[in-house]
Amino acid sequence: MPKIAIYPGSFDPITNGHLDIIKRTQGLFDKVIVAVNNNPLKTFLFTAGERVEMIKELFSVSKGIEVESFQGLLVQYAKEKGVRFVIRGLRALSDFEYEFQMDLMNRKLNPDIQTIYLMTDQRYSYLSSGIIKEIVKLGGNAEGLIPDLVKEKLLEKFT
Ligand code: PNS
Repeated sequence: MPKIAIYPGSFDPITNGHLDIIKRTQGLFDKVIVAVNNNPLKTFLFTAGERVEMIKELFSVSKGIEVESFQGLLVQYAKEKGVRFVIRGLRALSDFEYEFQMDLMNRKLNPDIQTIYLMTDQRYSYLSSGIIKEIVKLGGNAEGLIPDLVKEKLLEKFT
């Protein structure tokens, strides 16, 4: 049985912190499904299609990475995919409470699903998609924090 995990998130947009987590999961699982959340109640800068396409382009030569969007409950999506493992990255202590709440709720909804947490690389510990959007919008330098492709797409949105 291949070992498969889902790495869910908003990825609005994907950052080098996310990419680092994906690369690190590659040695642990045979396949990682990067699941782009498309919650109609949330406002995103990029459409789900744009977010999926960006990630696909970044991993075009990588084996074992699948990218798609999902709507609805994560545990439901995981069940439909037949996947039991979810990956989440942890940055600062401030992530803990939110992740703990999500994990408890997800396990209440489906006790078969286990979330595995990877600590962020320290280079990205202060990084978030939100802060990146602000930096690029205001003309700041996001060198080393996002791929060039993401920078281009952000500049397209902001000009
Ligand atoms: O990158 P994010 O915004 O921190 O990712 C959050 C995400 C998409 C993993 C989370 O909001 C989620 O799983 N949404 C799907 C809806 C759901 O299952 N909600 C209940 C979680 S307790």
